[in-house]
Amino acid sequence: MTGPQRLVHPAAAASASVVSSDFARELLAGLARRPRSVAPKFFYDAAGSALFDRICALPEYYPTRTELALLAAKAGEIAACMGADAEIVEFGAGSSRKIRVLLEALKRPQRFVPIDISADHLQGAASALRRDFPGLEVLPIGGDFTRPLALPAPLGRPRVGFFPGSSIGNFTPDEAVAFLRQVSELLRGGGLLVGVDLVKDPALLHAAYNDAAGVTADFNLNLLARANRELGADFDLAAFAHYAFYAPQRQRIEMHLVSRREQRVHCCGHDFDFAEGDAIHTENSYKYSVDGFRALASQAGYEPGPAWIDAQRLFSIHWLALPA
Ligand code: AVJ
Repeated sequence: MTGPQRLVHPAAAASASVVSSDFARELLAGLARRPRSVAPKFFYDAAGSALFDRICALPEYYPTRTELALLAAKAGEIAACMGADAEIVEFGAGSSRKIRVLLEALKRPQRFVPIDISADHLQGAASALRRDFPGLEVLPIGGDFTRPLALPAPLGRPRVGFFPGSSIGNFTPDEAVAFLRQVSELLRGGGLLVGVDLVKDPALLHAAYNDAAGVTADFNLNLLARANRELGADFDLAAFAHYAFYAPQRQRIEMHLVSRREQRVHCCGHDFDFAEGDAIHTENSYKYSVDGFRALASQAGYEPGPAWIDAQRLFSIHWLALPA
């Protein structure tokens, strides 16, 4: 059998070989376990990142535009929390639209360290930021921020973290506490600015993950398309349905890919059988109340500071301070 490593597409191997072989290993393990599941970080190859950018512009997908407007409206207060001469570490940087709003409000920001699993996305954004903020050092890191990280030594002042977009919702609450604890070591004496989607009318949540244009369906199905491209798998995309729903008991959106018929799929020398209705769980997206999230942050050793929410109570941004 050819090892997954050798089946990685050369273009992917050049930019992110570690991540690609992770994909092979985790996909094979995820299809073999019951219930079947694959971590949502594997959505973000170049095609998936482009689809996610389209999701962010959808009329039903309120988080991105709501968080951006909130950042812009509260930039002064947020900048005061972060302090002057800041060194900012962004987890899951993606596009640079949100950090730009902060950089414009911050006093003499010194260094920006964006970390993202999609390395191509990062380099373009970094050059544009260097051009637009000449006093700012930009040190992008391509990689998986859910793993322990080695960062450049801090410049002087404690670092501050930025974790926007409610990406924290991809973790279970227990995992979120563990992640917050892990990054608190990097941010000791500083703090973390985190965007968190709020619990709300389930019909609004449902619509945000079941858009009329079908972009979220394409985003979900891209996981299988990526396996075909990078690993030589033979998933028939038309034979899987995008299925997303809100589970109020768990306060989370779940996304699945559901087999439309009995079928056998081949990947990396393995056979995977699906009955009609068999599902692959591809994402959780947890929603919080403001108080619920503050309690979770306290559990992880942070001191919750101000929380900002929009007038429609769709989305929240929290400043979490870290004692020295
Ligand atoms: C990037 C994890 C915040 O959960 O809303 C969007 C990803 N999935 N539509 C989210 C996503 C489907 C998004 N996060």
